[in-house]
Amino acid sequence: MKPWYRPVGHEVTVFASAYKQALPVLLKGPTGSGKSRFVEYMADQLDRPLIQVACNEDTSASDLIGRFLIKGGETVWVDGPVTRAVRAGSFLYLDEVAEAREDVMVVLHSLSDFRRTLYIDKTGESLNAAPGFQMTMSFNPGYQSRLKEMKPSTRQRFVTIAFDFPTLDIEVEIVSKESGVDLSIAKKLCALGEQIRKLTELPLKETASTRLLVYAAKLIQAGLHPRLACDSSIVQTITDDAETVTALRDLVELRF
Ligand SMILES: Nc1ncnc2c1ncn2[C@@H]1O[C@H](COP(=O)(O)OP(=O)(O)O)[C@@H](O)[C@H]1O
Ligand SMILES: [Mg+2]
Repeated sequence: MKPWYRPVGHEVTVFASAYKQALPVLLKGPTGSGKSRFVEYMADQLDRPLIQVACNEDTSASDLIGRFLIKGGETVWVDGPVTRAVRAGSFLYLDEVAEAREDVMVVLHSLSDFRRTLYIDKTGESLNAAPGFQMTMSFNPGYQSRLKEMKPSTRQRFVTIAFDFPTLDIEVEIVSKESGVDLSIAKKLCALGEQIRKLTELPLKETASTRLLVYAAKLIQAGLHPRLACDSSIVQTITDDAETVTALRDLVELRF
């Protein structure tokens, strides 16, 4: 199935231009704002295979590049996802790269600049990226649970595309298309989403993202009562604080 993506700004032409010039891209923006879907869409549009890696605080350079493993009594080298993408000329998407261990960015440096070369110290190999290779990373600047920022020297190697939640009309289109709910329900959900995003006085780490609105719409489409759908996909997901739950439920009940 072809990935469906609704452009919200100039992201498609910026990415296509960066690809043409073999420049790596950094997608910055909140979780659930369409970054992964966008990369899947661009890979499909530009007819490249896509290798995706979700990074976390345990992700090390070896996880990405590869390691020696013992197989049937013999030691064999096994490529990691970055090495596979470099050899095959694939699109590579490193999700939440700031979460990964520090050695990760170091090994990606020579790959993200004009050299487009991956040095594998364990095998002594030096690999030039095959034509079509494109490195894209994502980064969520608002994510406060870890005090990790990307270094300016790293940031400057990338073309940056900023993602945010779309305007109401576009988000209604996305929510209805992704879930199959009527426009009237999608409109109510997206208006609720906009309202929650404006509640800066509540202690919310993450807000009602497009993804969560799509989830609520899918539950409604499955026959769940809209209040219960919003409660389990939005309210309980973005807060664990009892008072905030009550405040958000009030907003839901005003609309549904
Ligand atoms: N512009 C968009 N076009 C199509 N679907 C979108 C768009 N933005 C968000 N979505 C929907 O929101 C969901 C979450 O988006 P995703 O790309 O996973 O977010 P992120 O990678 O930024 O966390 C997608 O699965 C899709 O249903
Ligand atoms: Mg994602």
